[in-house]
Amino acid sequence: MTETLQARLAEALAPIANPRTGASLYQTQQVRDIAATREGKVRVTLLLEAQDDPTLARQVRQALERVEGVTEVRVDVKDAAQGGFSSAPSGRAGRALPIAEQPAAAPKAPAAPTPVAYPNLGRIIAVSSGKGGVGKSTVCTNLAIALAKAGYRVGIMDADIYGPNIPRMMGVDEAPPVKDEKIQPLEAHGVKVISLGFLIERDQPAIWRGPIVMKIITQFLRDVAWGELDLLLVDMPPGTGDAQLSLVQATSVAGAVIVTTPQEVAVGDALRGAMMFRRVGVPVLGIVENMSYFESPETGKPMAIFGSGGGERLAKELQVPLLGQIPLYPPVLEGADSGAPIVASQPQSHAAQKLTAVSGAITQQLGLRPGAR
Ligand SMILES: Nc1ncnc2c1ncn2[C@@H]1O[C@H](COP(=O)(O)OP(=O)(O)O)[C@@H](O)[C@H]1O
Ligand SMILES: [Mg+2]
Repeated sequence: MTETLQARLAEALAPIANPRTGASLYQTQQVRDIAATREGKVRVTLLLEAQDDPTLARQVRQALERVEGVTEVRVDVKDAAQGGFSSAPSGRAGRALPIAEQPAAAPKAPAAPTPVAYPNLGRIIAVSSGKGGVGKSTVCTNLAIALAKAGYRVGIMDADIYGPNIPRMMGVDEAPPVKDEKIQPLEAHGVKVISLGFLIERDQPAIWRGPIVMKIITQFLRDVAWGELDLLLVDMPPGTGDAQLSLVQATSVAGAVIVTTPQEVAVGDALRGAMMFRRVGVPVLGIVENMSYFESPETGKPMAIFGSGGGERLAKELQVPLLGQIPLYPPVLEGADSGAPIVASQPQSHAAQKLTAVSGAITQQLGLRPGAR
C-alpha cells in the first residue's frame, strides 16, 4: 500500500463517528487492519459491539469506495465482544478502570497520522523477548530503577497481557487512582508504573486479543498522567504478537531491548522477535543475556548452567551490542517476589551492577547524558 493511498483511506475514515460514543471509528481503532493492494483493492476490519449501529459497515464501505484509486472494498465485520473486551475488565468493580467505556476525544480534522507522538513520554523503549520466563520483566524493572537512580524520569508500562507481573515486582499491586479523568500511575523506587495487571484479576486468564490490546496500549500512552518522562520502558508480552504491533502502530518507539537466555531455543525465538522490530523500523538497541551463569550467593563463584554464548551469537547475528550478561542469582528472584528489585535491594551485587551497566549502555546509545533532563 502506498503511503498516499493509506493517507487517503485514513482521511476518508476519520470523519465517520460511532453515534454511540461520538468517537471516530478510525481513531478508536474500531476500523482496523486497513490493507490495500497495488490495484486498489481495500480490505478493512470493523469491530462492532452489540449496541452499535450495523449500518456503520455500509458507511465505511461507501466512504472507502469514494477514495481515489480504490477499485474494490471489502469490510469484514467482527464482534468486538468476542475478544472479551466488554466483560473482562469489570471482574471486580474496585479494580476496574474507566478504560473500556471511555470514548476517545472526537477528532476535529481528519485523523492525525498514526503513529501518534507523545513528546512528554520521552524515549519509548520496548523490552521484549522471544519467550516467557527469560527475565524480561526482571530486566525491565531493574533497568527502570537504575535509570531513575541515574537521574532520569522513568515510567514502566506493563503491556504483558499474559503475565502482567510488574506491579508485584515493583511492590505496587493496587488499583491506581483516577483523577480528572486521567489514570494516575503508581510510583515505586522512583519509577512511575502502570500495568494491565491493575485491570485484571491475578487468576483470571488473559484472553484479550488484538482489539483490546491496541486500545489499552493507546490509552496507557494517552490517558495516564505520566507527566514529563525521559524514558518509558514497555514490558512487552513474549513473542511477536498483537502488543508489539500495537505499540509500534500507536506511537514512535525509540528502540527495542531484547532479553534472552544463553540457551539456543530462547535465542531462536529472540531472533524472530528482534527481526519483527527491525521490519517495522524500530532499531534493536541490543541484547541482554539473562541467567548467563549461576552465581552462588555463598561463594560468588560463576557456573554456566544454561549453556553459554547465546546472547553473543544473537548479538552477532543482528549486529547489535550485547549490552550485558546477568547472572542467575537467587536474590534477584527474592527481590522480584518481595517488590524490591535487586538494583534497589542489593545495588552492590554483581547482578545489580551488570543491570546498571546495561542501563548506561542504553542511554549512551540513545544519546542521553547521565542525569540530564
Ligand atoms: N538473573 C536472575 N536470577 C535469578 N532469578 C531470576 C533472574 N532473572 C529472572 N529471575 C526469576 O525468573 C522468573 C522469570 O523472570 P521474569 O522476569 O518474570 O521473566 P519474563 O518476564 O521474561 O516472563 C522470575 O521468578 C524472576 O524472579
Ligand atoms: Mg514478565
